[in-house]
Amino acid sequence: MQPPSRPDRNIALELVRVTEAAAIAAARWSGRGDKNAADGAAVDAMRFVLGAVAMDGVVVIGEGEKDEAPMLYNGERIGDGRPPQVDVAVDPVDGTTLTAMGRNGALSVIALAERGSMFNPGPCFYMKKVAVGPRGRGSVDVNASATDNLRELAQRLKKPVQELGVVILDRPRHDDLVAEVREAGARVLSITDGDVAGAIATGWPNSGADVLFGVGGTPEGVIAAAALKGLGGEIQGVLHAQNEEVRTAAEALGYDFTKVLTINDLVASDNCFFSATAITDGDFLRGVRFYEFGATTQSLVVRSRSGTVRTIETFHRHDKLQEFTTAGF
Ligand code: FBP
Repeated sequence: MQPPSRPDRNIALELVRVTEAAAIAAARWSGRGDKNAADGAAVDAMRFVLGAVAMDGVVVIGEGEKDEAPMLYNGERIGDGRPPQVDVAVDPVDGTTLTAMGRNGALSVIALAERGSMFNPGPCFYMKKVAVGPRGRGSVDVNASATDNLRELAQRLKKPVQELGVVILDRPRHDDLVAEVREAGARVLSITDGDVAGAIATGWPNSGADVLFGVGGTPEGVIAAAALKGLGGEIQGVLHAQNEEVRTAAEALGYDFTKVLTINDLVASDNCFFSATAITDGDFLRGVRFYEFGATTQSLVVRSRSGTVRTIETFHRHDKLQEFTTAGF
């Protein structure tokens, strides 16, 4: 008889230290009205801890191009250089304004997948998205109308459309979508920012969110795909050009604004890892709390191959953090 194969490593359990550090650093700026400071602190902290993770990573989704982002820029090599070879997508703060304003729903997130398996958004900043949790998988189509999607989803979830919660970013571009969803009878759960958390909420039991619709960031869509793979949900997208200049530049690079990007187009690997730590309170995680001697964080750690979904609560002692780091979190 073959001995049982040893489970391979769950890097997400190391990544949680990365998002914890970034979330603590960002949370120090929560409510202080300075989103760039919050983001900068999170980037510093994230990069500092990432350097110690045993991996040979390439940033596919980072803080932008090298000339505008000194750290975590697209194409940067990160990790300690040892195998595995992976693509890395980071969003040190998803919800910079939420953090600056002290509002709910900001996360620090990172996703990893085998090298070459993550969709590279290039200049395509926006994507039209539809995301659902495990029970809704296979019932929605990003090209169908909201009305049709809600009808199909309601049937699948065996509840009336009136009981569906629909996450939509609060933007003027979504005015017609919001009107259509309400007309169909469903409830709109409006968020001012943070559609990674919005997409995850659809796959989170009892969050009240059944589906996410609308145009949001493409990088956030790829990161949400890594999370939803582990949660068993689904996301689809179609690239959306905010103007003709972006469309022309992207088409010249081979991007197609009509193609439906399935969850497997966004993250092809079935072995992907995701970690999120809440900066401010959210639907499924509590934000960072500071105490006299330290801070607590709550994180979500997901691995798609095993389908494990962990929530991790950590107490960080200030004195120990300062002993081990110079980043000041
Ligand atoms: P930031 O944290 O970079 O501000 O992004 C927040 C966010 O709300 C994302 O979650 C979302 O995908 C994107 O912005 C939407 O873009 P826009 O604010 O331009 O509509």
